[in-house]
Amino acid sequence: MQEKLEQIKQAALSTLESVRDEAALEQWRVAHLGRSSALMGVFDQLGKLAKEERPAIGRQANEVKQLMEARYQETAQKLQNAALMLTLESEWLDVTLPGRPVGRGRLHPNSLTMREIYRIFGEMGFQTYRSREVESDEYNFTLLNIPPHHPARDMWDTFHTTTPGVLLRTHTSPGQIYVMREYAPQPVRVILPGMCYRYEQVSVRKDAQFTQVEGLVIDRHITLADLKGTLNDFYRRMFGAKVRTRFRTSYFPFTEPSGELDLECQLCKGQGCGMCSGSGWLELLGCGMVHPTVLQNGGYDPQEFSGFAFGMGPERTTILRYYIEDIRYLWTNDLRFLEQF
Ligand code: PHE
Repeated sequence: MQEKLEQIKQAALSTLESVRDEAALEQWRVAHLGRSSALMGVFDQLGKLAKEERPAIGRQANEVKQLMEARYQETAQKLQNAALMLTLESEWLDVTLPGRPVGRGRLHPNSLTMREIYRIFGEMGFQTYRSREVESDEYNFTLLNIPPHHPARDMWDTFHTTTPGVLLRTHTSPGQIYVMREYAPQPVRVILPGMCYRYEQVSVRKDAQFTQVEGLVIDRHITLADLKGTLNDFYRRMFGAKVRTRFRTSYFPFTEPSGELDLECQLCKGQGCGMCSGSGWLELLGCGMVHPTVLQNGGYDPQEFSGFAFGMGPERTTILRYYIEDIRYLWTNDLRFLEQF
């Protein structure tokens, strides 16, 4: 019996040496340590042995079994390590290779202008307030002193929606009402930037969508001189201390008196060129003293409060700053154009 155990051990260990993968190892385990292996046969026969022989043979059989199990574990570990090395070698990665550059994108030229405008007005003590692009007829017109069917509505070619009374805002002025209703009777000094929409014949100078920056200042003693001073200060901060401006009278239903501000053409310095149609001036914004009816609609007593408002078109400034010859480039999302900034 001792010899038989020795043979079982030798046979098992020598075949183990030729095991090269996990499947073969499993086969080996079943053949040499499994239920019907020769070694298990020895354990089954222990009971039939003579009493004196039994302890010695039993111990030897256990030793053989433990040895074989230990070798089995070793081999399993070795095979695992080999498999790991193989994947490490085949999936080798050179971390010193230069990376692929990631496109960072860039700001839209008009966003650059808008940010410059926020920065300057921020320095001048203005807060920024936003209101919605889809607006009601009431806020876009009626509350701004433009009643239904009033001919002044023709000043804005409007995109109406299929829902009656709902439209795309034609200017940022409806934001004035939101600000007033939120802050009355406190003084306000805000700008309201955002996209506006008009049902326009699109051309080199006009697009159906454009941004505006509205300004609104309300307090107890605001005068036309404050309006002129504020806008002059703004354009000097934007274009330099020597820049010339000019105010002309105009008409808006929500301001009285109303005006428009022209800036000396920055391309020809007032000499007259294609950009300013030879006049030397560029029209940049509409403005005026807030109409008493509008103040009232916003919740301010016009006997006590006064204010000024303006609405500027930043695209004009963007075009001037970057010499863009066609306004339609701005919102057609052509990367060949946008990547230049
Ligand atoms: N909302 C006017 C427009 O779009 C501009 C404006 C704003 C005029 C505020 C006066 C005061 O034409």
